[in-house]
Amino acid sequence: MPRATDPAADVPILTRHVGAAEAFRRFWPLTRGDRKWMLAIGLFAVIAALAETVAILLFSRLTDGALQKGSVSAFWTPAGQWLTVAVSGALVGYLGNSLAAWTAERFLLRLRARVFAHLQTLPPHFFQRNRRGDLVERLTGDVDAIERLVVSGLLGASTALFSALFYGAAALWLRWELALATFVAAPIFLGATRRFTNRLRAVSRRVRAADGAVTSVVEEALGNVVLTQAYNRQRDEEARLAREAGRFLRACVTSARLNALYGQVIEVLETVCVLAVIGLGAWEISRGRMTLGQLLAFAAFIGYLYPPIRSLGSLGLTATAATAAADRLLEILDADPSVTDPPPWATTRLAHRARGALQADRVSFSYPNSLHRALSSLSFATGPGEFLVITGPSGAGKSTLAALLLRFYDPDAGTIRLDGVPVNRLPLAQLRSNITLLPQQTLVLHDTVEHNIACGRDDPAPTHDDVIRAARAADADSFITALPDGYDTVIAPATAGLSGGQLQRIAIARAMLRDAPVLILDEPTTGLDILAAQRILTPLRRLAEGRTTLVITHDLDLAADADRVLVLNHGRLVESGTHRQLLARSGLYATLFAAYPQTRNGAVRSR
Ligand SMILES: Nc1ncnc2c1ncn2[C@@H]1O[C@H](COP(=O)(O)OP(=O)(O)O)[C@@H](O)[C@H]1O
Ligand SMILES: [Mg+2]
Repeated sequence: MPRATDPAADVPILTRHVGAAEAFRRFWPLTRGDRKWMLAIGLFAVIAALAETVAILLFSRLTDGALQKGSVSAFWTPAGQWLTVAVSGALVGYLGNSLAAWTAERFLLRLRARVFAHLQTLPPHFFQRNRRGDLVERLTGDVDAIERLVVSGLLGASTALFSALFYGAAALWLRWELALATFVAAPIFLGATRRFTNRLRAVSRRVRAADGAVTSVVEEALGNVVLTQAYNRQRDEEARLAREAGRFLRACVTSARLNALYGQVIEVLETVCVLAVIGLGAWEISRGRMTLGQLLAFAAFIGYLYPPIRSLGSLGLTATAATAAADRLLEILDADPSVTDPPPWATTRLAHRARGALQADRVSFSYPNSLHRALSSLSFATGPGEFLVITGPSGAGKSTLAALLLRFYDPDAGTIRLDGVPVNRLPLAQLRSNITLLPQQTLVLHDTVEHNIACGRDDPAPTHDDVIRAARAADADSFITALPDGYDTVIAPATAGLSGGQLQRIAIARAMLRDAPVLILDEPTTGLDILAAQRILTPLRRLAEGRTTLVITHDLDLAADADRVLVLNHGRLVESGTHRQLLARSGLYATLFAAYPQTRNGAVRSR
């Protein structure tokens, strides 16, 4: 049943498909530091393969010397040698496998850290385009797939290659004509592998994408669980999960089926080859050209030769699966952070904390992926410590202005300055440490209230007394001490167990502690009831004291306090002046103000 909102449409459409070689090349640099260990593992693998080869030759000698002749005295020497070889092989195998596991996990750690670090620099619109669950999946499942290619895959390939070489060489040394006859079968194996590879590539992409979709659905449903229950949407959420899980199931089953089919086809081919060897060998023995020991050893070599060849083949399949993961990780790694630190020659460092003079000079900006201008030619300036209210209809560009001041994006034209320095010349961390943003949604860490406030500042680390002082200034101390564990009460995002006004006061306490010279508040009272909104006005005024403050708001109670009010409309600055001046002008501001008390007291009046 086709639907307008087919979830398949949510699966990000990747523009690029990298091949296995390209994927390998891109991720290989992450093995730096572990390459000597990888070499050691390879060496161990060679020794282990060599030990196995020698063991088979010793077995052949045992058969011919001791078993066929029924001589016990001929048993001890080759048996002792065999045991020695087996024990050394086991030791080397153990060391090699342990080291390989360690190396693989270290690579995984590094890859995940790398992708995560890059992800954290990406601009907000990247996260609007990609579902969170899918990104989580990339940091878990997809990094695994890359590890299986770059470290385990490479090590497996070299082990398989050396084993195949030794067994093949030993088989040639024993009976070269017979060996050559069996090697003729190799192209059949390669052909079979190729046929599977292409089909598996497509299936692997589907598995990865469906896995991400399942994680996304679960993640989103858990995030919205209250709404889901309130609207009785549990069934719909279950159906959504079932649909994505169904896709995942089908893709996984197809993938497993292809792998199993591949395994079985190869096994049958192997049996045919081994039977051919035994048949040829029986004929050779009847002619007296071969001993039984030789034939058994030969058949063993041929039998031993297939698994490494088979694993080389299935490595091709692993590599194919990894390319799907590589596409998804490279999509993150190749996404440009929209802003970066300035290059050293263009960097200006402020010697101390900023005074807080802000200046925007003919700033224009459109969001990437949008044609429409969110800000056009906007100019304003504020001296240190000024209190500005920014208002205007929704969609006017107010939040966009805040985003540009913090450099989430750079303007397409024009310049923004802090203390006279263009913000794109300041180290990003220095710029942001001079500005405190209070977004509409309070950032809640899954941690204690104390730590939720203390996280505002890390240098110098705040003491418990600092936290209490900040909480008092934010009018938060009284409700915090009434919580079951006071400052040690653990709160969590989404289920914080605190009201909007309380969360806002925690955010104010955090901002107090942070003590940055510039303060940007984006709709601090929106979503709060009138009493809660009024309750935060006093702490907000306290917080604004001595700081350059930009309050984005519809709450025009604050406008009377402002040194200046800026009115934005359609991305332009349409009016600016004091509250009184603007009222006198009877423009947009006057219209907004006239509408404001009615909406505000509407509930009361309509009685
Ligand atoms: N991430 C985004 N991608 C594309 N357009 C956006 C994005 N965020 C906001 N916009 C658009 O930019 C304009 C200004 O938005 P915004 O600054 O959020 O308005 P305000 O905060 O004044 O309500 C609006 O037209 C909005 O649709
Ligand atoms: Mg906004």
